[in-house]
Amino acid sequence: MLIRRRTMSTTLFVLHSPYRVRIVITAMSQVPQSETPISKTKYNDWNKSQLIEEIKRLHKRKRYGLVWEDKPEDVVERCKSELPVLHDVVTKAISSDADLPINLFIEGDNYHALSVLNYTHKGKIDVIYIDPPYNTGASDWKYNNDYVEAEDPWRHSKWLSMMSKRLRLAKNLLNKKGVLICAIDDYELNTLGLLLDELFPSYERSTIIVEHHPQGAGSITVSRTHEYAYVLTPKGIGIEGKVVSTGEDRWSLRRSGQGENNWRENRPNSFFAVLVDAAKGAVVGVGPEIPKEAKRYPMGKTPEGYLRIYPLDRHGKERVWRYNRASMQKLIKDSCIEYTVNGSLVVKKDSTTATPVFSVWKGSRYNAGVGGSNLLTQIMGAANTFPYPKSLHTVVDMLAMVLRHKKDAMVLDFFAGSGTTGHAVLELNREDDGGRRFILCTNNENGIASEVCYPRVAKVMQGYKDPDGKKVAGLGGNIKYFKTAFVGAEPNDKNKEMLTREATEMLCMREDTFDAVKETRLIKIFKGNKRHTGIVFAEDAIPALKKDIAKIGGKWSVYIFSLSDDTFDEEFEDMKKTVTVAPIPEAILRVYRRIFQK
Ligand SMILES: C[S@@+](CC[C@H](N)C(=O)[O-])C[C@H]1O[C@@H](n2cnc3c(N)ncnc32)[C@H](O)[C@@H]1O
Repeated sequence: MLIRRRTMSTTLFVLHSPYRVRIVITAMSQVPQSETPISKTKYNDWNKSQLIEEIKRLHKRKRYGLVWEDKPEDVVERCKSELPVLHDVVTKAISSDADLPINLFIEGDNYHALSVLNYTHKGKIDVIYIDPPYNTGASDWKYNNDYVEAEDPWRHSKWLSMMSKRLRLAKNLLNKKGVLICAIDDYELNTLGLLLDELFPSYERSTIIVEHHPQGAGSITVSRTHEYAYVLTPKGIGIEGKVVSTGEDRWSLRRSGQGENNWRENRPNSFFAVLVDAAKGAVVGVGPEIPKEAKRYPMGKTPEGYLRIYPLDRHGKERVWRYNRASMQKLIKDSCIEYTVNGSLVVKKDSTTATPVFSVWKGSRYNAGVGGSNLLTQIMGAANTFPYPKSLHTVVDMLAMVLRHKKDAMVLDFFAGSGTTGHAVLELNREDDGGRRFILCTNNENGIASEVCYPRVAKVMQGYKDPDGKKVAGLGGNIKYFKTAFVGAEPNDKNKEMLTREATEMLCMREDTFDAVKETRLIKIFKGNKRHTGIVFAEDAIPALKKDIAKIGGKWSVYIFSLSDDTFDEEFEDMKKTVTVAPIPEAILRVYRRIFQK
């Protein structure tokens, strides 16, 4: 049914029957100031808050964009009576290396996962990469537990309802420079484009075409070989581009110029021996620091037989290396220092250059059959564990174009499927020794979380044998696994206490402090990321926690159970330089009130 708005005489309505999606295009200059005309004198009588309310109302009014029937969704309705929390699935945690960051895996509906993340990760995400169900009509996703079929008259409205609710929550998680990348194909390309423009008005929307299926998908009309990715970047903020190798650069390790920086007396930290295994022609390490004032230092060979090479020029003058000891050790570890046949030392590095990101991506890297399905078969040891995984390289390149030089980035995928995005983050880290982290969220439809996504990421981290029995080395990494759970939403004392007890995982996640230091009935303490988190379940226990804080020292985030919204600042006045305090569950409830009341 077409509903014509009274004031929109110049409005063009397009009704896509039978899908019940309307695209409303209105000439902006002809939009009246209000749907119900209000006389100027009326505005004159209004106070400030009435005017603010009126502005809000006018902003909400649809002027240009997409209109669809908002079908109630069970998982969203549930949040009116219950609030999402997380339960730690301890048995699925992976800790391979304490020096590597902790990645997060959340099993559950992504509406609930994103709600939790609105408290724990607001403004912390650098890239959101998602590959939602494409709504092909081939029962590729469920709405309220039923597959959405091609004949469903609400097919597009349901998809838009589902996507808009998740994207609205996801937007809060991006940091100021954060980028959203969304894979899509022709079924919802246009509707998604309009939806994104509405939800992300201060972002630029670009489109990349990826040739992911060069054989073409069967059709009696045009056989499709491509899909798309929308890339949303904050206006005015560019992306680095695709980094390509342009060969190898080599230069002398010893400084040779006449400027001050080239001499030992001015840069004593860059004067030390580089150790060389001459028989193997390999650079093996560095000698000890040489004090500035030392006139003599060990020359010749080390007891192990390694050559000591100092940055002395051909006149025996004391120059310096280009790097200090720590940087040199890293370069040696990365095989970037070479001992040449003429006995000199050179630095060699891959030279790279950033090319623009072109809008059409073609080539075997992006073939989803090879880099997606076949790779997944190799990892899982069985074929067809998941229908359409992305090519690993597509996702690596999508992330790299934004994050190549952001080695501590946080990536989120809330339609994780077989876990390609997690794998891509680990792969990117392998390439450049990065410490990027990921958060993967997926439901467990057909065992996708427990039988595909998690095992895949675990295998990639820990290593596995391919179907031919060949060992593939693990890329390392840590994971914490959570499942969504719920507590009553009625703000009574019992529920508030319950939410506080159930909030521990959320607080650890927010603070990135997962190692338990102390767990009693009244106090919990966790550490990680060079700080501590203290949780106090009764005000009486504040003095005891303060004693622990004084003993352990360092930076702290403290959460104190309160039935009201007391801030407890006074109790921690003497520690305010190192301790931040917040009341729970109020801090969490505030976020939930905001997101669930929209
Ligand atoms: C198209 S797949 C993603 C594939 C992924 N990019 C890959 O390479 O494997 C979408 C996934 O999202 C999951 N999904 C769909 N609706 C969801 C929801 N509401 N919450 C969580 N996951 C959902 C589906 O189970 C499916 O595995």
